[in-house]
Amino acid sequence: MTSASIFFDAENKVFHLKNDQISYLFQVETGDILSHLYFGRQIATYHDQRRYPRIDRGFSPNLAGDPGQVDRGYSKDTLRQEFSGFDTGDFRQPAVVIRAENGAQATDFRYVDYEIQAGKPNLADLPQAYVLAPEEAKTLIVRLVDATLDAELYLSYTIFADRPVIARTAKLINRGTQTLQVEKLASVQLDVIENQLEVIALHGAHLRERQVERKSLPHGMTSFASHRGGSSHHMNPFIALVAPDTTEDSGTAIGVQLVYSGNHQFTLEKDYVDQVRVLAGINEQGFSWQLLPDEAFQAPEALLVYSEAGLNGMSQAYHHLLRERVARGRFQYAPRPIVINNWEATYFNFDAEKIDHIVDQAAPLGIEMFVLDDGWFGHRDADKSSLGDWYEYADKLKSGGGLAGISQRVHNRGMQFGIWIEPEMVSKDSQLYQAHPDYAIQIPNRDMTPSRDQYVLDFSRQEVVDAIYDQIAAILDDVPIDYIKWDMNRHLTEVYSAALPAAQQGEVAHRYVLGVYQLAERLTTAYPDILFEGCSGGGGRFDAGMLYYFPQSWASDNTDPVDRLKIQYGTSLSYPISSMTAHVSASPNHQTGRLSSLTMRGDVAMAGVFGYELDLSQLSDTDKTQISEQVAFYKTHRDLIQYGDFYRIESPFESNDVAWQFVSADKTETLLFQYRVLSEGQPPLHLTKLSHLASDKTYLEPATGQVFGGDELMTVGFYNVPLQQADFTSRVRYFKQV
Ligand code: DGJ
Repeated sequence: MTSASIFFDAENKVFHLKNDQISYLFQVETGDILSHLYFGRQIATYHDQRRYPRIDRGFSPNLAGDPGQVDRGYSKDTLRQEFSGFDTGDFRQPAVVIRAENGAQATDFRYVDYEIQAGKPNLADLPQAYVLAPEEAKTLIVRLVDATLDAELYLSYTIFADRPVIARTAKLINRGTQTLQVEKLASVQLDVIENQLEVIALHGAHLRERQVERKSLPHGMTSFASHRGGSSHHMNPFIALVAPDTTEDSGTAIGVQLVYSGNHQFTLEKDYVDQVRVLAGINEQGFSWQLLPDEAFQAPEALLVYSEAGLNGMSQAYHHLLRERVARGRFQYAPRPIVINNWEATYFNFDAEKIDHIVDQAAPLGIEMFVLDDGWFGHRDADKSSLGDWYEYADKLKSGGGLAGISQRVHNRGMQFGIWIEPEMVSKDSQLYQAHPDYAIQIPNRDMTPSRDQYVLDFSRQEVVDAIYDQIAAILDDVPIDYIKWDMNRHLTEVYSAALPAAQQGEVAHRYVLGVYQLAERLTTAYPDILFEGCSGGGGRFDAGMLYYFPQSWASDNTDPVDRLKIQYGTSLSYPISSMTAHVSASPNHQTGRLSSLTMRGDVAMAGVFGYELDLSQLSDTDKTQISEQVAFYKTHRDLIQYGDFYRIESPFESNDVAWQFVSADKTETLLFQYRVLSEGQPPLHLTKLSHLASDKTYLEPATGQVFGGDELMTVGFYNVPLQQADFTSRVRYFKQV
């Protein structure tokens, strides 16, 4: 392992965090304001050449001082800063806003001192990247104070030894006697100077998650946010800052990713001297946190990545970090089982017999786990009832000995057994709601806005989290269960808690997320042998925060292979393949109506954590044979797919031909996945080239017996000729070193 180091140049007052790959520099400037200098490729030594240029600029105010004594060339308004205040001379977006008891909202934090620690301190109650040994990272914690507010701000920077990654966070402590109201506390601020910056964000919707959109930055504000109570399908908590010439494999990229699953915002502001301020953290809309004397507020963590190997380089850094130092538990590196899920096969309309039938058909195909989706609890036959009643639907399952009977028969078949839950929700038609209507998030004397006919439980209240924990634990103690799919099928409205006073209502959305994290932590700790999968109406909470608890997540309710190309491509920008579950479903597809071959559906789903979600009894024997071949193929290459290095080659957002590749860490094996979306008369020709192989080694394609040089595969490449004249075609090619 190489090492990370943090120096403080006391003469120039410059902090330099570096490892073999990156350097991060900032300076204590005049007035003890922290000024950002540089984040990029590692440099050996910094000679103070990026000191802020003093230029007297109109309408950009100066530091307070006596007339004639003030440096008119020095303004916070143009200074690149590490964490900017509000209403004290910088008119750009602030990182921290606090309302004092007198109503003033100004903040002005000045540097006091610093501390360097080996390793990475633990953030209480929040998900985060971690280290297993102190040598893996170093952490710089810088203390700043706003003397007027008597508040301390701790900025934390962790540099990892072997990764191009800086983890950042911020914490506020009220040291005074007045009550402070925190109106905003960003997790990270990064003031960058590159004028031609472009930004990539992952927008989307239910059934259309994580679509890649790239644009140049205009002057003024650009923002990407969720105010839905979850990180959302609509805007993922991740952005990449890229140069105009950055491609998948070349050019610079800076990734900014939040380890957070609630309301978030990324704001980018290009100022009047063409600098860009990037801020990321909890969404300030509706947020307000009461900080009593001696209390602290901790912002969620942000993970910064620097890459000079294009977007693939950035994604690699995130894939390794999230897989190795965010995901935890027994299943972190475990081969993830191939599941058959009954949702699209039966929806709510099942009984024990139907389930047995699915299991009986799945087992001989080599499928490893059966997941009983929504509808096994309370009296749930439709999505209008029973959320909150986590006991089995005895009438529905009684002919088969209930949940325990199903579990036993699944296990007897040599398969594992999983169930679906949606712990954060309540239906009006439930015993829980009848007994505790106030457990639902709502504003007194205002209608509750329904969504999917369900309501959100107030997870900011401990007794609500406890009540759900007890119910779910009772099921898990009673029935042998190997897997849980944790769903969340609506967003938050009328955000208000019956348990908090007026002054603290702005805390509810964040406290809700903390309650979700707490329940996830308790359940995963109490049941370490259960594999948890995150889900939120598909991929509505696909973020690094949930990944800390659940090593995999359902990527989308849209299982159409063509749409999935984009969803999985976009998801791979910031999340590892081991976290992305993907199922083969029926054709015509239930979400798009599109017909597609089993080959195409399998080849797309096999590029993730693989499974099936269709009525096997509707399939021909030929289809079933093909499924058993797909299952066998996936098992052979599962380790390479789930834990190998994934590289995007051709983008579905730019081309009709799509390609991506998996490479083993030692470069001895590779899988090339190629897809052609639409058939074309006179198809245009181009070449698909592999990458990241050993150029001086020879690779055999066992399926054809052909042998190629690594250099040849990477530089000469293959034509993209279609295998068939049809829409939605694909092929997977495997090569291994000889
Ligand atoms: C949404 C999930 O994404 C689906 O897979 C399924 O579990 C349904 N909810 C069940 O209500």
